[in-house]
Amino acid sequence: MIPKAWRGRRSGFSLLVLAAGLLGALLGASPPAPVRDLDRRAFDLRLSLLPEVPVPLEVVLVLAREETLARMGRWPWPRRYHAALLDRLGEARTVVLDILFPEGGDPEDDALLARAAARHGRVVAAIHLAPGQGKAPPRILPPYDALFRGVADVGVTNVEADEDGVFRYAVPLWPVAGGVAPSLSLAGVSLALGLKPEVEESPRGLILRLGKARLDLDGDRRVWVRFSRVPPRVFEYGDVLEGKVPPEAFRDRIVVVGVAAAGAGDVVTAPNGGGVRSLFGAQFNGETIRTLLGGGTPRWIPPWAAALLGALVASLGAVLALFARPLWAALGFGGLVVLLLGGEQALLASGLWAAPLAGPLTPGVLTFGTGLYLRFRVLHGEERTHRLSVFGILDLVRETRDPKEIPERLASVLAEIRAQDGIEVESPGLSFREVFERTRALGVEEALEGAGKEAVVLETPRDPWRFRMIVPLPEEEETRYLLLRWRRSLPLEQVRSVAALAVAADWFARALTEAKKQKETLYQTVAAMVEAIDAKDPVTAGHSRRVCDLSVELARHLGADERTLEEITFGGIIHDVGKLGIPDAVLGKQGKLTDEEFALIRSHPSVGERILAPVSLPEVAKQAMAEHHEKWNGRGYPRGLKGTEISLAGRIVAVADVYDALASDRPYKKGWPLAEVCDLLYKQSREDFDPDVVQAFWEMKAPEDWVPPDRRPPTENASS
Ligand SMILES: [Fe+2]
Repeated sequence: MIPKAWRGRRSGFSLLVLAAGLLGALLGASPPAPVRDLDRRAFDLRLSLLPEVPVPLEVVLVLAREETLARMGRWPWPRRYHAALLDRLGEARTVVLDILFPEGGDPEDDALLARAAARHGRVVAAIHLAPGQGKAPPRILPPYDALFRGVADVGVTNVEADEDGVFRYAVPLWPVAGGVAPSLSLAGVSLALGLKPEVEESPRGLILRLGKARLDLDGDRRVWVRFSRVPPRVFEYGDVLEGKVPPEAFRDRIVVVGVAAAGAGDVVTAPNGGGVRSLFGAQFNGETIRTLLGGGTPRWIPPWAAALLGALVASLGAVLALFARPLWAALGFGGLVVLLLGGEQALLASGLWAAPLAGPLTPGVLTFGTGLYLRFRVLHGEERTHRLSVFGILDLVRETRDPKEIPERLASVLAEIRAQDGIEVESPGLSFREVFERTRALGVEEALEGAGKEAVVLETPRDPWRFRMIVPLPEEEETRYLLLRWRRSLPLEQVRSVAALAVAADWFARALTEAKKQKETLYQTVAAMVEAIDAKDPVTAGHSRRVCDLSVELARHLGADERTLEEITFGGIIHDVGKLGIPDAVLGKQGKLTDEEFALIRSHPSVGERILAPVSLPEVAKQAMAEHHEKWNGRGYPRGLKGTEISLAGRIVAVADVYDALASDRPYKKGWPLAEVCDLLYKQSREDFDPDVVQAFWEMKAPEDWVPPDRRPPTENASS
């Protein structure tokens, strides 16, 4: 479950999860302004999508709109108009008079209105609260006694906007000096229902009780208004006054009377789905009354619950991102979001609202995203190093044709790692003493002894290279060490990968050095042998070296690769080694050889094979030696091989050998002119020699004016 790369970092990541939790709590409890704004809009939208709640009483509005004002003159009107209106609303269950009468007017009119209110019996009038001095509660502006003597109740008509200036909530009970005063809406509802509102404590917070109805109040004793999709019926003030509306239209209804003209100033911004719209004060009161009648709206969860939810989701997001397999992390986080949305539904059903962004989603997405970023950044880095160490070496060896390049390529990879990850190979192949001197760390001796063949990590906080890894190299005699150093805390796997690379580089370098040494030794041995042959037969001194040189030239001309050239070099040098086994008397004999002596001479290729059998020489070199007296037509010795049965090395050395024998001066003859050698080789081609090798010889060595004998003009032929 937990990624391997996390080992050694778990405490670090646990801290990250803790930090994520704290961040979540902070964001949940006090989200930044943009998140808070989005959450409010989400709340508005969510509320507008809730099903309409049936209300026991219908609310209708009587509004003095522009057209009435145009008809009846400018506001304020004589108060006898309102008195007359109240008489028209006689059938109403309650009249909520959302008009302020802060001071006395025409005494006669005031008396008329007071009497009309008293006659109706169920009129609620508006009072206004003025802000208190300092921390004192707001004051009720002194009511106009003459009027209020006739009303059944009064209520506070103030409304308060949310932080963003939108009016979302109502305050049913306003704190005032000496207690609380009901809002105009609450006063109207309690009068209409004949119930006295009571506030009580419950385990889930404050509750406003109206008979059986219970409304949740939030921490600030507010009720969130639930704006209905179907607006209440509205009647024109003037129409009602003039008797154009039948009295039954108001029967048993709560009637809110107010002014709805732009000039009256009583306008608020209210939510409208996810957006906003303007409402007049009376309309807002109408919505509040319907909310109170319908049993309220969901309440926002308290900040501590939002903090807890934020912390929970943020930590879960971090845990999933950091520790789960990628697929599970994605599924898990998706599931978490679905769970949150489902949880939100369940909360709503129980009358609670959890801001979806601040509480769970923003912190969750933040920590999940950050966790994923951290994880993949780190994992990717480690995967890269890992690839270099395991597959990288294989690829390097496969891709690199010349093994000599391998240590160089490995070194460049190590340099890249040093630049990127800051891990440096201090020096490969140090002795124990050198390691000790370089690290100067206390306890290094004990650490190395205790760890045996294991790598040891030393931490030296005062050194700029805070960490060192000492890796023992596989060695036969004295143990040597590889020393890596790095400055910042890194996962051990990553360092081990680099160590593996460095060990490989060291191994390749040593292997190549030894191979080179071996080859040099061999070459020196062979050269010593050749010198011995020369010493034995001074007449042919230098022959082997010259045959060797010409053979290599011929082979190169025929397109042999470097490796074959190297092998033919050996072959040329050693081709006559077998002569070491032939008695000096026979080798140096002047004059005609007996059959036995001749047989002895002819045995030298086989003798050479026997001499060199225990020496590990390239096969091609041995073939060159064994087959340089075989002939193309099969009449050579020692085996009588024919055509391409003879190795190419054998065929090449054969031509070079004959050329050198003919062209060199000997005590008993002058060296042949080059053209004559060419003639002979040409004539013997297909008999003694491979025509391709002869062709190569001719192309390389023949004088410029030389032409094959059978293509010369007859006259020249005759003269020669
Ligand atoms: Fe020979």
